[in-house]
Amino acid sequence: MAAAFLIAAGLAAAAWAHEGSSHVQAARPAAARQQALVRINADYQAAVKPIFQAKCWDCHSAHTRYPFYYRVPGVRWLIERDIRQARKHLDMSQDFPFLSHAGPEKDLDALRDVVQDDEMPPLLYRLGHWRSGLREGEKKVILQWVERSLKALGGTKG
Ligand code: HEC
Repeated sequence: MAAAFLIAAGLAAAAWAHEGSSHVQAARPAAARQQALVRINADYQAAVKPIFQAKCWDCHSAHTRYPFYYRVPGVRWLIERDIRQARKHLDMSQDFPFLSHAGPEKDLDALRDVVQDDEMPPLLYRLGHWRSGLREGEKKVILQWVERSLKALGGTKG
């Protein structure tokens, strides 16, 4: 929908402005970038989202499944702080591009770093949630998606 609108807007701008006008020059890269983001999100939903949903959403989204020990007062405070910090950095609630201050490229870079270095989910969480660590196959899927996405965004900066 958003892409279709942008394409239509781009065409309208092209028809309205004279060739080579600054309006058209600005509209084209923005539309290309928007299209790339839409394609990356479709790719994300098919390949990566189920992994993040299972292993990351408890902290990086509005869809936390609280553990039974959440009721313990001190523990509850720790969990809430974790979720607050996690969502401040990267919120996966609305798919890609993620809600974040950093922007899509920086988010993809950060994802690559934490997956390669095995930093997420945090160790403490993994101790309490068996099998929550990323398996090798899952890491591969995420990293390949990151590479495809960064490549797709490569030439689209306006
Ligand atoms: C127990 C809660 C928790 C879970 C589960 C969790 N994270 Fe995190 N994550 C955090 C917190 C807290 C931070 C921010 C503080 C830090 O960097 O340690 C963070 C930071 C990050 C960052 C860094 C963002 C930046 O701007 O540098 C990325 C990327 C990330 N997490 C990805 C993931 C992925 C991918 C998963 C699932 C495989 C995941 N996280 C699961 C709590 C969590």
